[in-house]
Amino acid sequence: MQSLPALFRLDGKVALITGGARDLGYDMAGSLAAAGAKVIVTSRTLASARRAAQAIGKRHHVETLALELDQREHGRVATAVAAALAWKGRIDILVNNAGGGSGRSPALLFKRDPADVVDLVQNNLLGVLHCCQEVGRIMARQKSGKIINIASVSGLLGRDRRLYKKNGMKGQPIDYAAAKAGVIGLTRDLAGLLSPLGINVNAISPGGFARAGLPRGFVRDYSDRTPLKRMGRDGVDLNGAVLFLAAPASDYITGQNLVVDGGFSIWR
Ligand SMILES: NC(=O)c1ccc[n+]([C@@H]2O[C@H](COP(=O)([O-])OP(=O)(O)OC[C@H]3O[C@@H](n4cnc5c(N)ncnc54)[C@H](O)[C@@H]3O)[C@@H](O)[C@H]2O)c1
Repeated sequence: MQSLPALFRLDGKVALITGGARDLGYDMAGSLAAAGAKVIVTSRTLASARRAAQAIGKRHHVETLALELDQREHGRVATAVAAALAWKGRIDILVNNAGGGSGRSPALLFKRDPADVVDLVQNNLLGVLHCCQEVGRIMARQKSGKIINIASVSGLLGRDRRLYKKNGMKGQPIDYAAAKAGVIGLTRDLAGLLSPLGINVNAISPGGFARAGLPRGFVRDYSDRTPLKRMGRDGVDLNGAVLFLAAPASDYITGQNLVVDGGFSIWR
């Protein structure tokens, strides 16, 4: 039997984290590196991917690689994944983190530009699917791998827009919820397809994370609606969840959506 600490080690593994140059992606890349994984960080700009990869490598004493990737186009995903494979000849862990809102046209459905709806879904849903397809193909050949898709509680719950309006915020568009619900659905179905090939597929649905730009009133109201009485913390609150789903500790878990929201969803 493996020792308990070994269940959470990733020595010798190669992990690819999309959108890993900042915020939650950077945190998760650091968490996997701290457990011994060699880490590939992608970003839409090579310079920021390089900065993040260097910082992670220096801090955790692991090898890192930086790659440019805009996941909206399948061709670019295929090119980046080929470069990732060429690095060490394998990819053991994929964290599909890249995504988020574009902040372009108004979030309100009736005022929203349809082109922005297409762009957001292309990024948050189809981009994830492209990455699953290209990395999944490699993992299927290896007969092993862990795919972790970052969804959101907005894929599970309706949003209380009064909270945003009250605090002078735009809120998030319906298409974001649609894309994230799609990620949760594809995770389950993909797990059915890939688990017999030795690949675990799971999702993490974070609740809201506190950010410097958020109005104080919103942070207070959101925290008040959260059983653990606070929003998520960058650098802390996703690190354990991603490590668990990437490591041998979760070898018998697939097709699940791990909700990391301080209990926000249980009071809805
Ligand atoms: N911050 C939150 O409160 C929260 C809550 C729930 C879910 N999430 C999800 O967690 C993930 C990370 O969130 P974050 O807050 O760190 O977001 P962020 O906007 O700070 O970072 C997102 C990352 O994705 C990258 N990215 C965006 N579009 C891309 C594209 N087309 N191709 C490649 N990379 C692209 C960005 O460059 C950035 O590095 C996202 O999928 C987001 O939807 C965030």
